Amino acid sequence: MPLELPDSHDLTLLQQRLIDWFASTARDLPWRHTRDPYRILVAEMMLQQTQVDRVLPRYTAFLEVFPGLETLAKAPTATVIQMWAGLGYNRRAVNLQRAARVVLAEHGGIFPQDVTRLQQLPGIGPYTAGAIACFAFEQDVAFMDTNIRRVLRRILVGPDSTNQPSGDRLLLPLAQALIPPGQGWTWNQALMELGALICTAAAPACQRCPLRVHCHAYTAWRNADEQAFSGSAEIIDYTTTRQRTVRRVAEQRGEAFVGSNRYYRGRLIAILRELAPGTTLSLPQLGAQIRADYTDDHQSWLQSLLAGLARDGLVELVDDRVRLPTE
Ligand code: ADE
Repeated sequence: MPLELPDSHDLTLLQQRLIDWFASTARDLPWRHTRDPYRILVAEMMLQQTQVDRVLPRYTAFLEVFPGLETLAKAPTATVIQMWAGLGYNRRAVNLQRAARVVLAEHGGIFPQDVTRLQQLPGIGPYTAGAIACFAFEQDVAFMDTNIRRVLRRILVGPDSTNQPSGDRLLLPLAQALIPPGQGWTWNQALMELGALICTAAAPACQRCPLRVHCHAYTAWRNADEQAFSGSAEIIDYTTTRQRTVRRVAEQRGEAFVGSNRYYRGRLIAILRELAPGTTLSLPQLGAQIRADYTDDHQSWLQSLLAGLARDGLVELVDDRVRLPTE
């Protein structure tokens, strides 16, 4: 049943699969080379609402100007805000400096290590406190950000819309129990990486996911796909007897009946394959090419076809546009 941990055999496999995947796939990010709590704090504050690619140049530049806690604490706040340019949500810059000032003034410049005391620093909530305890002090602590939450919900509960209580209060103890002892640092980095690269919000690439056999969402999506591809209600309702016969024969031969979802999946890929590498198409452009009667009413149908293709690793959705996978 959802919201339970896998049994201990499956749990060990799941842990090993994610850790192996991380070892072979992880991006080389500068904050993964340090255990300095100051640098981890800077990274985590920047990463809270901003994409990694955007953070990278600003993180390096920020640390050149403020290489340590003391330089940041003693700088004029205006300079800190200036160095935050391009990251948005400027309140984070002010909070970061306030935290640095409190660590300097009240803790002699030494970061507290436990989550409760970290959380007492200004502007540091449960996420940042957990991330510092784990990524700087290598503690086996669970914490939630949007990526980790989405990944764990999909694995333990099901598809995003599943009507099952899955707030952090329920999820956190399970997240804690999933951590392989002594490997909290790698485990939490790997969950974040999976959420950023594979288990994305809009287009999870389940075919490339090391955890799909353990995942409740994947099982549910696959079952739904199978039902959809065995014939949509629309086709059964509106086809003539002759068409149904053609369809049955085509299915028996393993072919895609014209008008079935499987047929349209094939058409979509064929169209994308004709394009120059990396070229993207919008949904209306694609829709118009796969069916002459395409209108806006078909958009959600097209989206669900594309979501299925994306889960199978066949297409990538980039800002509402579609292309073949670029990797
Ligand atoms: N987002 C937040 N923290 C991160 C980290 N440590 N690595 C990659 N993305 C992140």
